[in-house]
Amino acid sequence: MPNMAKILVLQGPNLNLLGKREPELYGRTTLEQLHAKLKEQARNLQLQLICKQSNVEHELIDAIHQSLNDGIDFIIFNPAAFTHTSIALRDALTAVAIPFIEVHISNIFARETFRWESYFSDIALGTISGFGAEGYTLALSAIATHNTSSMK
Ligand code: DQA
Repeated sequence: MPNMAKILVLQGPNLNLLGKREPELYGRTTLEQLHAKLKEQARNLQLQLICKQSNVEHELIDAIHQSLNDGIDFIIFNPAAFTHTSIALRDALTAVAIPFIEVHISNIFARETFRWESYFSDIALGTISGFGAEGYTLALSAIATHNTSSMK
């Protein structure tokens, strides 16, 4: 693990409503609470963490491009509904070639069939789906416990 690896947690559309939005599916933890918890976990793991959320596709693309300038080592990405639609976001990730973990709060395979397709899973280091907000914690510890070269 390089010194103080830098991680971007990137959250797609409607995730700003976490805690209020369909709590039976997405839980009662707000995005703010989730990010505060992840920042604490990152501090303990000696990782640098930046958290961003946008409802707008081009802002997510810009954030992925910006990751190159910011020296981001890994991205933890919940593309939300863009999971199932966005070739542009997929292309942004292949363009910057920063390893990323795809996270879904709900189990997308236990839901409507249109959620079974992801534009990201085959290019991700791995996908975590169905463990609620805990999925982000799992992704962060996966990054911390694997050395960079073994995950690339
Ligand atoms: C989601 C699953 C997507 O299908 C959905 O559009 C979301 C959230 C999840 O975290 O479970 O907005 O990515």
